[in-house]
Amino acid sequence: MGQTSYTVLALETSCDETAAALIREQRVLSSVLHSQTLHHRYGGVVPELASRAHLQHIVPIVRQALAQAGVEIEAVDAIAVTTHPGLIGSLLVGVNFAKGLALRLRRPLIPVNHLEGHIFSGFLEDPELSFPFLALVVSGGHTALFWVEDLDRIRLIGSTRDDAAGEAFDKSASLLGLGYPGGPAIDRLAAHGNPQAFRLPRALLHESSFDFSFSGLKTALRGLLQQRFPHGVPAELLPDLCASVQAAIVEVLVHKTIRAARLYRAQRLVVAGGVAANSALRRHMQEAAGQLGIRLILPRLHYCLDNAAMIGLVAHEKLRRLGPAAFRCLTITASPTPLRAKPAAARSRPHTLAPSHSAQ
Ligand code: KG4
Ligand code: ZN
Repeated sequence: MGQTSYTVLALETSCDETAAALIREQRVLSSVLHSQTLHHRYGGVVPELASRAHLQHIVPIVRQALAQAGVEIEAVDAIAVTTHPGLIGSLLVGVNFAKGLALRLRRPLIPVNHLEGHIFSGFLEDPELSFPFLALVVSGGHTALFWVEDLDRIRLIGSTRDDAAGEAFDKSASLLGLGYPGGPAIDRLAAHGNPQAFRLPRALLHESSFDFSFSGLKTALRGLLQQRFPHGVPAELLPDLCASVQAAIVEVLVHKTIRAARLYRAQRLVVAGGVAANSALRRHMQEAAGQLGIRLILPRLHYCLDNAAMIGLVAHEKLRRLGPAAFRCLTITASPTPLRAKPAAARSRPHTLAPSHSAQ
């Protein structure tokens, strides 16, 4: 029998988190990250600054991950890295660092799709999770529903046609003068507000597809603010506005996810990505899943946000299934390309997220 347990060093630098983790089997030996706060003053991630910050932090973060795990670099069996999608400059820092390590240590190099990482972060929370399951990935860059039958049988069943859910939170927060990232600020203020105070659009709510659209929400909010509060929003109304924005986003996410769960007769549901940290989304999804009798897996906050443990977990499983010889090629590259929902006719076919490791 081949080796089934490996020690994987995983790197994640697709956006504004520099992250490294050590994984052995499904066990996280360490998972450390540096969140780049330098972007806050610009109201969004500045790609060039993000790449430079990754360069600055990648060595200390990798050292910290090794030290926390108590693992010497020579004891690492394979290197894993996020190759796509993401900011190209940011991805390239992680990919080139991983290549250098793999070359120096003569170890396999495993490319991982960032979205696969989020989807399989459910296993970090619940190692007993089994296939098939429905996965909703909601973050600053992605909003997508997947039907997951196996590691290499992931079907994209719907995604956003414009803004991602996290983007909708961030842009609404910006209109309300709450700074960046806006999701946590809206979540905090909404706790004291009335979600029915202001009526905001729920796009595509009753459309039969599982696609989402959030760009109309910020336009509606901008119009409402200009019309009702041309001289600025009174502070006492901020909680009601935040609760109304949050309700508009959460209602669509829960409604579409539960409809997909019914259609696919899902027994298990994973909700992952930064927006999965939202307290209203967690509460409403929990209620809806409970009513339907399905198990909801909500990774803890550290595993909802971008992290390298989820990348290492996917890589470990690929290595276990395919063996190290499948990952000897060092010609992997990075790609910024986001996923797009396939046309309806193509959706019945299983869709693999992972490109060939030797591709491009
Ligand atoms: O997964 P993530 O860390 O990075 C991306 O891949 O985008 O997600 C970041 C996003 C941001 O848009 C942020 O506003 C949102 O997740 N977010 C939240 C909350 N915490 C983070 N949105 C709503 N409520 C929260 N509590
Ligand atoms: Zn992410």
